[in-house]
Amino acid sequence: MVAPEVAPFVKEGGLADVVGALPKALAAAGHDVRIVCPRHGSLTIEENWARRPEILYVPTGDGTQFASLWETEINHGAKVPLYFIEYGEYFSRGEIYHGPWGAHGDNDRRFAFFARAALETCHLLDWIPDVVHCHDWTTGLVPIYLNTLYNSGPWQGTSSVYTIHNLEHQGNFSPEVLNYTQLPSWVYQEAGLESLGRMNWMKGAIYHANKITTVSPTYSFEIRSPSGGFGLDHALRFKGADLVGILNGIDLDAWNPATDPQLPENYSVENLAGKDRVKADLQREFGLEVNPHIPLFGVVSRLFHQKGLDLLASVVERIADSGRMQLVVLGSGEQWQEDSFSQAAWRHPNCVGTYIGFSEALAHRIIAGSDFFIMPSRFEPCGLGQQYAMRYGTIPVVRRTGGLADTVIPVGQENSNGFLFDDPHPHDLLGRIFEAITLWEHAPDEVHRLRINGMTRDASWDRSAAEYSQVYEWAVAARRGG
Ligand code: ADP
Ligand code: GLC
Repeated sequence: MVAPEVAPFVKEGGLADVVGALPKALAAAGHDVRIVCPRHGSLTIEENWARRPEILYVPTGDGTQFASLWETEINHGAKVPLYFIEYGEYFSRGEIYHGPWGAHGDNDRRFAFFARAALETCHLLDWIPDVVHCHDWTTGLVPIYLNTLYNSGPWQGTSSVYTIHNLEHQGNFSPEVLNYTQLPSWVYQEAGLESLGRMNWMKGAIYHANKITTVSPTYSFEIRSPSGGFGLDHALRFKGADLVGILNGIDLDAWNPATDPQLPENYSVENLAGKDRVKADLQREFGLEVNPHIPLFGVVSRLFHQKGLDLLASVVERIADSGRMQLVVLGSGEQWQEDSFSQAAWRHPNCVGTYIGFSEALAHRIIAGSDFFIMPSRFEPCGLGQQYAMRYGTIPVVRRTGGLADTVIPVGQENSNGFLFDDPHPHDLLGRIFEAITLWEHAPDEVHRLRINGMTRDASWDRSAAEYSQVYEWAVAARRGG
C-alpha cells in the first residue's frame, strides 16, 4: 500500500483514514499487507520505532539518492508493518502538499522520488508483493513504473491497483521531470501521461493500472461523465471495464462513542445519556447557551470549494436570525471561508462557534456533541465525516452526491438516517436545515429513530475489504494473463 498520508500518524484528509484502516481489515482477512509512506516533517518518531540499518538506494535521473527507512506497525489484532521513508530534502517540511504560498514547487520530484523509493523499499525488504495498491495523484507514477522499469525479474507478476479518492487533484506538471523519473519517453503519450502538453499523473495511472477503484459506487459513475470527470471522463470511460466503486468503511476502533478517549463522557446506542453531556460541554467550550433543547449543528471540514460550505456561510445570518439552532464549525482552508465563519462567530456569539485549524480531538467532540452534521459538498467521492457522525448518533444533512448519496438514506424511506438536498444552492441547504429543526421541535421520537438507524448501520471495513480482495484477484489475473 503506497500512500502520501496514513492516520493516525500523518493526516490531511480522509485518504489517511482509509490507508490507516483498510490494511487492518485486509490483514485480518489473511493478506500480508505492508504500508509505505513518506516521513513528513510533522510526523513524530516514537521511541519504539526502528530505523532500518540498511541504506535505501533510490535511482533517479540525478543519480542515486540515499534515503532511510523507519519501521513500525499498526498492531490491532492482525499486524500491518508500516515503513516511513526519510529523505530530508523532500519530506522534512510540515505540510504534505503545500506551504503558505501554494503547492510545493518540487512536488513532481518529491513524489516521483517517493514512487521509486516505495518500490525500492520492497527490494530492501526482499519482499515483492503480488499487488501494489496506490492512492491518488501523488502515487500516480507507481503503476507506470510497474509497466516499465519494474516489469521483469521479480516484478514480472506484480500488478497495480490505483484508487481515486479525489479526481480534482491530478498532479499536473511540466514534462521536464521525465528525465528525473527515468521513465521511457513513450509513456508521455495521449493514451498515457500526456494531457494538453503537460504531464498528468492521474491520467497516466488510469491508463497504466491493472484495476482502478474509487471510493463509492455513485462516484464511480459520476466521474465517467463530463460534469464529474474533471477532464478525465474520456479516459475513465475508456478504462470503464477496469473501474470499480467500493464504498469506504470507517475505523470502528478509532471512531467508537463507547470507548472514545477524546470525549468527556462515553455513550452507546443502548445508553445515549452521555451524548447530552458531550453536547453541554461543547456548548460551554464555544460560549454558546448551554441548553439541551436547542439543536446543535456541527461542521468538521476542509474549507474548500468542493465542500460547499460557502453555501452555509451565505445563509448564516438567516440561521442566526431564526434563533432556532446553534452552529459549531471546525475547519481550515480558503481564507475567505475561514474569515466568513470567524466573523459569523464574532457577530453571533450565542449562536455560532468557530475554530479555525486542524484538531483531531475537537473533531471527535464536535461529531459527538452535535445533533446534526452538515456536509453540503458540491462533489464528494465518499465522505467519512457523515459516516463518523452517524456512528456517533449525529444526524447528517448532506447534498445528494457521490458517497453521501450512497451512505445517507433520506427521511421518509426505510431505515432513514439523515437529510439530503439536491441542488448546490444555499436555499436548498437552508430548506433542509429548517426541515431538520422542525423535526427536532415536533417529532423527537422520529429524531431518535434517525439517530439509532445511523448508529446501527454497518460501516465496518470488512465488507469493503472483501471487495478489494476481489479486485486484487482480478488485477493479478489481468497482469498474469489469467
Ligand atoms: P476529505 O478527505 O475530502 O477532506 P472526508 O470526509 O473523507 O473528506 O474526510 C475528512 C477527514 O478529515 C475526517 O476524518 C474529518 O474529521 C477530518 N477533518 C477535516 N477537517 C478537519 C479539521 N479542521 N480538524 C480535524 N479533522 C478534520
Ligand atoms: C478524498 C475525498 C473524500 C473521501 C476521502 C477518502 O479526500 O474527498 O470524499 O472520503 O478521499 O477516500
